[in-house]
Amino acid sequence: MLQNEIHRQVRQKTELDTNIGKFLNNRYLIRDLIGKGGMGRVYLAEDVAKGGMAVAVKILSMNLANQQLSQRFAREIFIGAQLGRKSTHIVRVLSYGVTEDKIPYYVMEYLQGKNLKQILKNETLKIPNILEICHQICLGLQCAHQGVSIKGEIFPVIHRDIKPENIFIIEDDSKDRIVKILDFGIAKFLTEGTGITLAESFIGSLPYCSPEHMEGRKLLDVRSDIYSLGVLMFEMLTGKHPFQIKSNSFSDWYQAHRFEMPPMFENIAPQISIPKELKNLVMACLAKEVSDRPQDISQILVVLEQLQRKYNNLISDKQKNIQNQELLHLVPVTSLSEKICLQKSWPKNQPIAPICFSDLLPTPQGSVPTFWAMLAKKEIAKFIDNNNYTEFIFQKNLYPMILWITVLSDAQFQLTRWLSCFLDLKDIKGQKLVQNLVNTGYYHLLFFALEDPTLCVNVITLTLSAFQRQQLLDWLDYSQKVNTISSLNESKTILKTEYEKIKSDILQKLVNKQKQTRFNIKYWLLNLYGHILSLFPRSSLIEEGRTRKVGKTKRKLVRDSSLH
Ligand SMILES: Nc1ncnc2c1ncn2[C@@H]1O[C@H](COP(=O)(O)OP(=O)(O)OP(=O)(O)O)[C@@H](O)[C@H]1O
Ligand SMILES: [Mg+2]
Repeated sequence: MLQNEIHRQVRQKTELDTNIGKFLNNRYLIRDLIGKGGMGRVYLAEDVAKGGMAVAVKILSMNLANQQLSQRFAREIFIGAQLGRKSTHIVRVLSYGVTEDKIPYYVMEYLQGKNLKQILKNETLKIPNILEICHQICLGLQCAHQGVSIKGEIFPVIHRDIKPENIFIIEDDSKDRIVKILDFGIAKFLTEGTGITLAESFIGSLPYCSPEHMEGRKLLDVRSDIYSLGVLMFEMLTGKHPFQIKSNSFSDWYQAHRFEMPPMFENIAPQISIPKELKNLVMACLAKEVSDRPQDISQILVVLEQLQRKYNNLISDKQKNIQNQELLHLVPVTSLSEKICLQKSWPKNQPIAPICFSDLLPTPQGSVPTFWAMLAKKEIAKFIDNNNYTEFIFQKNLYPMILWITVLSDAQFQLTRWLSCFLDLKDIKGQKLVQNLVNTGYYHLLFFALEDPTLCVNVITLTLSAFQRQQLLDWLDYSQKVNTISSLNESKTILKTEYEKIKSDILQKLVNKQKQTRFNIKYWLLNLYGHILSLFPRSSLIEEGRTRKVGKTKRKLVRDSSLH
């Protein structure tokens, strides 16, 4: 009787799902449907080449109509697969391909456990558990955000679809919970160039989607994942989504994410006692403006780890090992190209004078945008303090040019230097430079001394914001589409005038940036200090705390002559 019932159920499933019973790549025999989401179905399958080992196969619900799309799918999954090797908190992807009907699929390790959505439906998680789960999600995300190295080039990976369904929780042999992030690379693949709109492919993910992602910004950065993580943490802590909307439509979710303020924890879950630091952290992650959120995962990890210590939930040695392993693998890509810069000599065709120019530097990892400047030796020593700011100026309806400005200042703002050069967007060299700035997101500034111009004496790396990269890309697109009648020289004059007008704004941005950096360092030092104090008995903690005093310094702005 029972046997018949099982047969009937299996027959029904097989009839409904034509994939069951099929072989993929002559290797994976599809056995059963595990579940389905907005982007496809996940099956339990047997790897016949590995003695019938259980694997999970995700088959996307789309057709790879053209070669280009297949290549993009392969690329995104390949990058996702590299992450699974680097972090225990990212699911391992074992293989990927396309079915005979040109449907993309990928094979993963089969996980036994539940996803966070299923867990939240049945369980109210306690704060230490929430901290532990978030900590592991952050370790996985941090590894992805730091990027994977492919042929020497580092590709930072943003998940773009962090939601409870994509967080899987398994129990290992020692009954510890291990968190794995699923679906790396899929959201990027689906929402870029497939013709599928965000609203179509993301309907299940809209409750977790950052406002900037919903606006369709091309260059999302890590802070988009941080927003989604904020929604997830809010839900884990309160059991409720921060926004209650009327319908599950794209526009309702957009309104909520972009304009609605999340409710106070006290109002939505008065019965739950949540530490203030945790509430502040979640609210910061949920900030509408990316600049108001924690700027990277390490800032979140600092708070989580502090809270975990408070809850006597010290991070196990096992996880520390994983963290160390991750750090060992990551060599900042900039340190390699900085070394190459230091071997460069001043070009023979440039005068020995206080001038600057831009160039593309070929490196084994690809081309890197650079800015070369010649200055007096004693000035260079003052500028290596990371007190700098980058600005780009462009105006529509003119001959397409970008004025690229780097302003440098010493720590006390007593000496400021303005470096600038034009990038001609009608010229292939200018276009390449801008495209490289967009792709790498940073550039090297090479310093040469007037007194001894042979070798580069110092090099610093300056990063662009996601907004600046998006702007450059938009200008590049625009300049390729539009024909203008104004001349190159007219354009230069207008951009220079604009530059003079906004110089004081740029200086203000530089001052604000320095304040923010100091705040971050102070915050980091306070955390470190707190950590050290927590290692001592309570009585010495109070004494130490009383003797500390934070001084105030006065700063003066002095504008100096520019280099051009
Ligand atoms: N490697 C795996 N091992 C075991 N179960 C998995 C694995 N990957 C996914 N699942 C489960 O399969 C089900 C379907 O996953 P799927 O990713 O298709 O759905 P989703 O995340 O809800 O939607 P989306 O298509 O937007 O990602 C989920 O319950 C998920 O937990
Ligand atoms: Mg999923």
